[in-house]
Amino acid sequence: RKPTTITTLQSLYRRNEPITMITAHDFPSAHVADHAGMDMILVGDSLAMVALGMPDTSEVLLEEMLLHCRSVSRATTSAFTVGDLPMGTYEIAPEQALESAIRVIKEGRVKSVKLEGGKEMAPTISKITTAGIPVLAHVGLTPQRQNALGGFRVQGKSTVSALKLLQDAHAVQDAGAFAVVLEAVPAEVAALVTESLSIPTIGIGAGNGCSGQVLVQIDMLGNFPPGRFLPKFVKQFGNVWEESLRAVRSYREEVKERTYPAKEHTYPMAMSREEFGEF
Ligand code: KIV
Ligand code: NA
Repeated sequence: RKPTTITTLQSLYRRNEPITMITAHDFPSAHVADHAGMDMILVGDSLAMVALGMPDTSEVLLEEMLLHCRSVSRATTSAFTVGDLPMGTYEIAPEQALESAIRVIKEGRVKSVKLEGGKEMAPTISKITTAGIPVLAHVGLTPQRQNALGGFRVQGKSTVSALKLLQDAHAVQDAGAFAVVLEAVPAEVAALVTESLSIPTIGIGAGNGCSGQVLVQIDMLGNFPPGRFLPKFVKQFGNVWEESLRAVRSYREEVKERTYPAKEHTYPMAMSREEFGEF
């Protein structure tokens, strides 16, 4: 496959073909996403929670995101890559945001950046896009602001908040965002926002009426121990944790039983036992 560019994404949007996006946070998870033919790979700051075991996304540092962005970029030949700007690296001023975005591009080696926020982030989005860095916006449930939102809650349920969502989506579009993530909003609201915009919407927990979809890879793979809380919108397409558990258990058992390593896993010796004994 040829590398996916902004132009490729725009033509998918024009043809009304759903845009597929998934997160990846390292070399193997990016490999699988790229091989599966995903249009976009997001190095989301959700990695803080699903891969680094942090309680929320606010703890992850720009330097840490850069390490993960770089490993994802090395495995990606075809998908269009996006790196999340972590909390605290873009809210102070557009200049701060541009500086962080440049680091994500230069050091993280991804093709674009994502940041959370609507109308209030318009000058920031404009600053970054003017510098030639594509920006994916993110409105609705914005996890970096969970403390202000009162937790991970559905947004755009009331008329007032649905209208705010529409305003935010238009503000980020006018500021130059190439697409916008809609997270945890009622399906009908997301569909109306999508119809009203002239850039693609990428939904997560936002129903079927968006221009594309995104999921957190570790969630959709089922790569976590049983009993972990999952948002309603996550469909578990696999059971990677169970499969990993099975494999690691078998390895452990075979070592305890001395059935692994078997002959085919070992190297032959060139000298005879007798020769060896002479030393
Ligand atoms: O960090 C992330 O994975 C995200 C997606 C859920 C959109 O922001
Ligand atoms: Na994120």
